[in-house]
Amino acid sequence: MCGIVGAIQRNGGVVETLLQGLRLLEYRGYDSAGVAVLEAGAIKIRRKAGRLERLEQVLSDGSLDNARAGIGHTRWATHGPPSDENAHPHTDQEGRVALVHNGVVENWAELRAELEAAGVRFASDTDTEVLAHLVGREMARGQDLASAVRASLARVRGYYAIAAVAQGEQGVRIVCARSGPPLAVAAGPDGVYLASDVLALIAHTRDVIFLEDGDVAELELGHAPIVTRIDGTRVDRPTRRVEWDPEQAGKGSFPHFMLKEIHEQPDVLARTAFDRLRLDKGDVDFGVPGFTDHELRAVDRLQIVACGTALHAGWIARYLIEGLARLPVDVDYASEFRYRDPVLAHNTLALAISQSGETADTLAALRLAKTLGARTAAICNVVGSTLVREAQATILTHAGPEIGVASTKAFVAQVVAAFLFAVRLGRARGVLSLERGRELVSELRLLRPKMESLLGERAVSEVRAIAQKNQGQKGFLFLGRGINYPIALEGALKLKEISYVHAEGYPAGEMKHGPIALIEPAMSILVVNSAGPLAEKVRSNLEQVRARGGHVIAIGSDKESIAQSDEHVLVPECSEWLSPILNVIPLQLVAYHMADLKGFDIDKPRNLAKSVTVE
Ligand code: M6R
Repeated sequence: MCGIVGAIQRNGGVVETLLQGLRLLEYRGYDSAGVAVLEAGAIKIRRKAGRLERLEQVLSDGSLDNARAGIGHTRWATHGPPSDENAHPHTDQEGRVALVHNGVVENWAELRAELEAAGVRFASDTDTEVLAHLVGREMARGQDLASAVRASLARVRGYYAIAAVAQGEQGVRIVCARSGPPLAVAAGPDGVYLASDVLALIAHTRDVIFLEDGDVAELELGHAPIVTRIDGTRVDRPTRRVEWDPEQAGKGSFPHFMLKEIHEQPDVLARTAFDRLRLDKGDVDFGVPGFTDHELRAVDRLQIVACGTALHAGWIARYLIEGLARLPVDVDYASEFRYRDPVLAHNTLALAISQSGETADTLAALRLAKTLGARTAAICNVVGSTLVREAQATILTHAGPEIGVASTKAFVAQVVAAFLFAVRLGRARGVLSLERGRELVSELRLLRPKMESLLGERAVSEVRAIAQKNQGQKGFLFLGRGINYPIALEGALKLKEISYVHAEGYPAGEMKHGPIALIEPAMSILVVNSAGPLAEKVRSNLEQVRARGGHVIAIGSDKESIAQSDEHVLVPECSEWLSPILNVIPLQLVAYHMADLKGFDIDKPRNLAKSVTVE
């Protein structure tokens, strides 16, 4: 989705700051980019369809190098195709104001008709341009930029994060606002900044303010940001410290963020879990409110909502929580839950799982669950995100910034968090004994070297050979059962997202009810099978595939499946409850290497956005 940045700097060089910020937001997905700066009170705009490099090229003439204030944008087209004209920033007809926008103005057609009837001529197909004209019109009536933005937003239906600058205003100011998509502001020693993601702020300062829906903020050099509501009422928003290290936002020596993030997973396990484990008590301590024995005993049912990869973590959470804590769990696509008029049992805890904490469907589903009487909780990776601020209790995953659009380390962190939650619930409800609790937390501690072994040179080159051999296949079927069924779904999603091949995940036992018709030598069947009570069942599913000439790739610790397969990755043994954390690694690597061999843009796959903040 679109990305927004803005800065006013003491010592000039704002164009480079804006570009640096936009580079860090590239992961969000975009098709054009632009900046507007203020130079001697005049607005100057440069914008270009295509990759950021095209905009950088235009800016390399140095004509804007002295500017000290500006806003920037990466656009993910919603209204009008990706073109120079539709790229942001947009201005009003007189060029009084320049504005960038992430989101959708739902009543844009009606507002555009009204403005056109008043003689305004539009220069783009975008909904955003409506906002620029509205703000410009308010300024022409004598309002300052902040009041003009507030008055204009009062007329808008939809969701937005915006930033605007105006020509010739007394004192250089940027005004920004949010309702829906995320926006954070910060005052550092050398300037004031805003961005859609704290990643673009932490190079300047780690102390940031996350705007709330309905907030409008004014940024001016040398002042703390002034935050008001749309009606002009002043509000105080706390400054929060973001512990992410700016270096984590870089690729290091890896060719792609995705590969770096896959390799970070053993550390992510340690960061998310180890400090929370209480070995002596066979338990987990989250160190935050919401997870005491008393609070958890009051829960009779769990409703999980999430999207994409986070939903797959949700499916795994269901196996863990039903298995270890004996609590009934429902899991739903957030986008389905929010529109199916759901019925929630008494004493339901609604749990949203999300890397970004900004996914529109997930947020809407959790809000709905709350209005239906559920208590709410979240598993989330981003401090200060909307989800973290809205949920009544949160388990933060400590995956660090995830930049690759294909989620990897965030998924592992979510599964680890779900495991911790299952243990805590089991202990709180008295269904998990002290001894079993101790065994489980000790097993989690032993997982790190096993994950590392799957990322060693030999293991990785085995996976690359599999990717190489299978890259010409017609299709891919991923099979798994029990707690490894969601891993089959996740393996297929990863392959689809970045290698653009057809891949489907299926419960292995369900294959004979339809997908078996697909099996032929040109189909590769990846069978996830780890030692456990269902291993034998999966083996017989695997035999059914072989009997029909399917090409079988076995992944897991079940040695008999390995012996029955055409190709394989042997995964170290561990408790069945933890096996998804190991089994997913070769699947992530298969997807990565296949995309790499095909020469695709791994970190920015076509049509995808990292954080889906619109419906
Ligand atoms: O930020 P979230 O975890 O809420 O995002 C949910 C999905 O959009 C996300 O997992 C998506 O499916 C990824 N591209 C998967 O790799």
